[in-house]
Amino acid sequence: GGLKTLAATHGITFGGVAKRSAIDNDASFRTTLTREFNLVTPENELKMKFIQPNRKDEFLWGDADALVNYAQNNGLALHGHTLVWYKVPPWVDSTALGEREAVMKNFITTVATRYKGKVWAWDVVNEVFNDDGSYRNSVWYQAMGTGFIDKAFWTARTADPAAKLVYNDYGIETVNAKSNAVYAMIKGLQAKGVPFDGLAFQMHIKQKGLDYQSFADNMRRFAALGIQLYVSEMDVATDSHPATAADLTAQADVYWNILDRVLQQPAVKAFQLWGVSDKYTWLPENDPLIFDAAYNEKPAYAALEHRL
Ligand code: XIL
Repeated sequence: GGLKTLAATHGITFGGVAKRSAIDNDASFRTTLTREFNLVTPENELKMKFIQPNRKDEFLWGDADALVNYAQNNGLALHGHTLVWYKVPPWVDSTALGEREAVMKNFITTVATRYKGKVWAWDVVNEVFNDDGSYRNSVWYQAMGTGFIDKAFWTARTADPAAKLVYNDYGIETVNAKSNAVYAMIKGLQAKGVPFDGLAFQMHIKQKGLDYQSFADNMRRFAALGIQLYVSEMDVATDSHPATAADLTAQADVYWNILDRVLQQPAVKAFQLWGVSDKYTWLPENDPLIFDAAYNEKPAYAALEHRL
């Protein structure tokens, strides 16, 4: 049962996000997660800020190991998030430019090697562009220019050759300046022979939705590059809190439309939500998920079920 079973009939893996605290303390969370989903992303536990918060030679594995083990023991594939991101622990900000390549490679190699064979897909690089399509001025960009992206993918491939290697970003769902920049980046990586498997559209959107035709067109041009596509972090923020019945209907309509376009694009291999229930969400004022805080199915759940 559950949405995962329906999604599987379309060749789609159905994912949610989890924090260690919810897994440890909330039986309803665990029941819902394992009933409905067959893929999970640790919300924060694999980030550099969490694994390597203090210094170069100290890796803290407790929360990350707990989530990876939980996924392994409960039939959930794992989406690793994320090896290289601009949000870094403070000690990295104060490293010399000349040290940063080694710091980046050490993190990728150490984490991807520890979980080798247990990660279905890695978000190797996350959010490198500004909305206008220019490169974000991150600690990594400052030290290596755009070359940090090539180096990150090569290092990840060496550490875990079987994992899908992914670029993940928000605001790239439709054809726009930022998705144009991602398109150019991927073509460049492919021209250089850099290992690259897939593109993930985060899909943090609002109840007004987006231009679904442009989403379909955008997916089509990326699929033509021969890569896999994923919706990696979908949530739909309502305009009010608590959401009105009209908000929930609008929200359900957005979920339906995104899934509908996804199911028409065979390059898409996973459809993942950034959460399970409104009880735990990074947008607590926007009721963005498909179960309410008491784990009741919302209209958005029915919309996904109906389209599947
Ligand atoms: C967010 C988490 O949900 C929060 O708990 C945390 O405080 C900040 O990060 N894009 C991403 C995710 O790639 O890592 C972000 O997750 C949400 C936006």
